[in-house]
Amino acid sequence: MTGRLEGKRAVITGGASGLGAAMAQMFAAEGAQVALTDLNLEGAQAMAAKINAEFQGAACAFAHNVASEESWIEVVKQADEAMGGFNILVNNAGIGSMGSVEDESFKNWKKVMAVDADSVFLGCKYALGVMKHHGPGSIINISSIAGLYAAGNMSAYNAAKAAVWLLSKSVALHCASQNYDIRSNSIHPVFIKTPILFDMGKVLDAGSDEELMNKLSRGIPLRRIGEPDDIAYAAVYLASDESKFVTGIELKIDGGMSAQ
Ligand SMILES: NC(=O)c1ccc[n+]([C@@H]2O[C@H](COP(=O)([O-])OP(=O)(O)OC[C@H]3O[C@@H](n4cnc5c(N)ncnc54)[C@H](O)[C@@H]3O)[C@@H](O)[C@H]2O)c1
Repeated sequence: MTGRLEGKRAVITGGASGLGAAMAQMFAAEGAQVALTDLNLEGAQAMAAKINAEFQGAACAFAHNVASEESWIEVVKQADEAMGGFNILVNNAGIGSMGSVEDESFKNWKKVMAVDADSVFLGCKYALGVMKHHGPGSIINISSIAGLYAAGNMSAYNAAKAAVWLLSKSVALHCASQNYDIRSNSIHPVFIKTPILFDMGKVLDAGSDEELMNKLSRGIPLRRIGEPDDIAYAAVYLASDESKFVTGIELKIDGGMSAQ
């Protein structure tokens, strides 16, 4: 690739799978060092090993529960020590959830809010302590098109992803007001081919993965669902200094869905 992230050091949550793994691989290919964190430590280590086989010493992996304040404090310390500071944070780890306001249990609501929204608050809060000494920096929060447009059967997920959307702007304005040289933006994917999508499809009883993809693509003007790399390309742009005047935006990657 072309060294667009040469010298950058990134923490990517949820790096074991799906979008996190795709972003970690593309960031390393563009010259960045990456710390992959995940509840699934084995998966994060396997992905780091895959990256290191091609780009020696580019990746490390840490166990992380993004919903836990203690875990964030520990991971920020570990990544700081392993990479000599860092300047990119990708808050990507998340879980899906289907359920209307009547069907959703309060217990699951709190779990979704913790993993999908508290995680981003905690990540920004603790990572800034390191990032402000290693600018220019970039925070990339993975929300969803479901953080901007509601569905009757996605109450908790809608609410959590909407929180990520506006929190990203609050962080952007705070960093600007403090002259940190750190930008903060959110990415809003529509359906992307990763395990989370197929898990949600099973809850909907949507048939085989193939049938689910066909069904979902009918609602998208480009008539297909996305690939993890569609998100990774956008994240490389937001992580790089090419986007140095871009902060507080919501980048929709949705095959035209929100244009309708
Ligand atoms: N795939 C899609 O269609 C889609 C669309 C819009 C938004 N998103 C968002 O993209 C992000 C990545 O999802 P994905 O599609 O790659 O799904 P995925 O299930 O493939 O990956 C999610 C990763 O997060 C990890 N994780 C889950 N809970 C965690 C926790 N508490 N602490 C640390 N790690 C945890 C999982 O182990 C997994 O590796 C999520 O925030 C998701 O909401 C995905």
